[in-house]
Amino acid sequence: MVTVVTHPLVQHKLSLMRDERTGVKEFRELAAEVSLLLAYEAMRDLETEPHPLNTPLVSGDFPMLTGKKLALVAILRAGLIMTDAIVQLVPAAKVGHIGLYRDPQSLQPVAYYNKLPADIAERRVFLTDPMLATGGSASAAISSLQAAGATSIKLMSILAAPEGIAVIERDHPEVEIVVAAIDSHLNDHGYIVPGLGDAGDRIYGTK
Ligand code: PRP
Ligand code: URA
Repeated sequence: MVTVVTHPLVQHKLSLMRDERTGVKEFRELAAEVSLLLAYEAMRDLETEPHPLNTPLVSGDFPMLTGKKLALVAILRAGLIMTDAIVQLVPAAKVGHIGLYRDPQSLQPVAYYNKLPADIAERRVFLTDPMLATGGSASAAISSLQAAGATSIKLMSILAAPEGIAVIERDHPEVEIVVAAIDSHLNDHGYIVPGLGDAGDRIYGTK
């Protein structure tokens, strides 16, 4: 299942991210803000249960989070900007990191790091990567999460290509995807069009 967060705030901020004139500082801020808004939607189905407490006026039962604990997992390096933002909303979440880069010729993901919470199997996992292009990186990350025992995984990306969505739906049909937009297509170099360029480079100023 794919959820596209069409909220005007998200779309406005995404357009600013697309603008080639947007510099590193503003790009980072926008990526963090969009990530928070995506998380708000991705976490809509978190369980709550009534919890007794006293307000300054009365006693009562009020909803608080319950159910499985959470894990945020970033696909390095660009996914870090998203987990760093989202952890502010869910400060008790554990954070994992999966290091993958896309070989520029083959476009295949190359794994270089993996550090996940030991109890990942008991947690709801929110996997973050701003760009879902060919889908190779996200699919490999989901496979390694599943190999570690994770059974509840949502993928959060800022931008997706139809090709990447199709790969996740084929390889991991049980994984829900939350995105801000699905663009037109990939170009010959595997870049999303119209896109926003190389997310990692724009976040870290490496180009
Ligand atoms: C980018 C992006 C994704 C991946 C998406 O990472 O952040 O991880 O490409 O492409 P895919 O869907 O075709 O696999 P990149 O390989 O540039 O590494 P970086 O984050 O370290 O810059
Ligand atoms: N990775 C990016 O950062 N941008 C794209 O358009 C595709 C992959």
